[in-house]
Amino acid sequence: MATPPDKPRPGAAPDDFAASEFAAMRRENADPDEKVHPLPWFFIMFLGAMGMWGAFYIAATPSGEASAYGDQRTVANLRPPVAAAGATPAIDGKQLFGAKCAACHQASGLGVAGVFPPLAGAEWVVGDEKVLISILLHGLQGEIVVKGNTYKGVMPAFGTLADEEIAAVLTYIRSDWGNQAAPVTPASVKAQREATQAQMGPYDGGAALKALGP
Ligand code: HEC
Repeated sequence: MATPPDKPRPGAAPDDFAASEFAAMRRENADPDEKVHPLPWFFIMFLGAMGMWGAFYIAATPSGEASAYGDQRTVANLRPPVAAAGATPAIDGKQLFGAKCAACHQASGLGVAGVFPPLAGAEWVVGDEKVLISILLHGLQGEIVVKGNTYKGVMPAFGTLADEEIAAVLTYIRSDWGNQAAPVTPASVKAQREATQAQMGPYDGGAALKALGP
């Protein structure tokens, strides 16, 4: 295409404005155009690999099976035990222990050396049930010797628990970790609650507990 002249040709008719029109076109910038920028091939391959890996992961992951992690309870474990007609549902002493005591005395019942005394093989646990119940009802603070070691900590009171709950947790700690002592009944807890009504605040260590004994 021949380059259009900048000026109207000499002698051009007044209505022949083609030349000046071309000049205006040349003055303007070119219209912007969209250029084609394809994704780099390695990025496309990376995306494809990620997608394939994701599909494989979902397909290969077992679902609906018992969890290998967590506390491994299933829905069946969480359902309250079906109580026999008329009976009050059984209270799980071990579960109560896990919720109320294990933070200090540990699930192993071994306590934490120098801080929280052991319950496994502890003379206070397998000894007189009245003393044991009293510790739970009112708490304990001051020096106490457990399995030859002296502790001086603070054991909170659990008097707000129901008689049945205290009986269940004490029966549990008296029968696990090799402990072998008679179960504690809710009636014993009730009787001891009444007998120690005058006790305000925690017992002052082992000496105060010994005074309770037979
Ligand atoms: C906050 C921590 C803590 C929690 C929770 C706790 N205890 Fe204790 N417990 C102690 C400490 C500390 C002592 C020792 C107190 C002392 O030194 O006078 C103790 C002492 C005892 C004793 C007497 C000593 C022994 O080891 O035989 C018994 C029995 C006992 N606890 C049972 C329980 C039970 C059952 C529960 C749950 C219902 C429980 N404790 C929850 C801290 C705790």
